[in-house]
Amino acid sequence: MLGPVRQKHLWIILLAAVVVVAVLAVGARLPFWAGKEIEATGTPTIGGPFTLIDHQGRAVTEADFRGSYMLIYFGFTTCPDICPTTLQTVSQALDEIGNTAERVRPILITIDPARDTPRVLADYVGHFHPRMVGLTGTDDQVAAVAKVYGVYYAKAPGADEDYLMDHSSILYLMDAEGRFVRHFAPGAGAAELVAALREVL
Ligand code: NI
Repeated sequence: MLGPVRQKHLWIILLAAVVVVAVLAVGARLPFWAGKEIEATGTPTIGGPFTLIDHQGRAVTEADFRGSYMLIYFGFTTCPDICPTTLQTVSQALDEIGNTAERVRPILITIDPARDTPRVLADYVGHFHPRMVGLTGTDDQVAAVAKVYGVYYAKAPGADEDYLMDHSSILYLMDAEGRFVRHFAPGAGAAELVAALREVL
């Protein structure tokens, strides 16, 4: 038989055991929650609000594209190679998915607004796809949208008036709410785009 003093000790030991188990249980969950926190805050946010001018001279914001998936590419109309190749690939992919292409808006956002006026863009996007939209704006507006998409661009060094632009070449797929879905690396083919679009549309 345990005396009253030993019984009291037993209760304290039991209480301590319960506390230890509780702490361990909480501790076991901590990495899970902490991990989620890191994951949530560590995910890069791509995309966001913008105000630009479309190739028909109208002021537009990201809200004007709600309801459509957006395939967004940043480039410039006098780009000799990568930009036209990418836009050609986008156009080919949209042709291949048939009617569902109506739910996708291909968009070229110029990173050379000094030369790519709405009129220049209208002529340019017309060469690629009837649904393609060209967007330009002031230097500040273009800088702002490039920033929210994490796009780098700069005038190529040492060039005269026929200057080229250095720029990231990433194609973004955004959903109908304007949220980032995925990106396509430079050189992604039409087949890769078609597969990705068929998956989400
Ligand atoms: Ni280019």
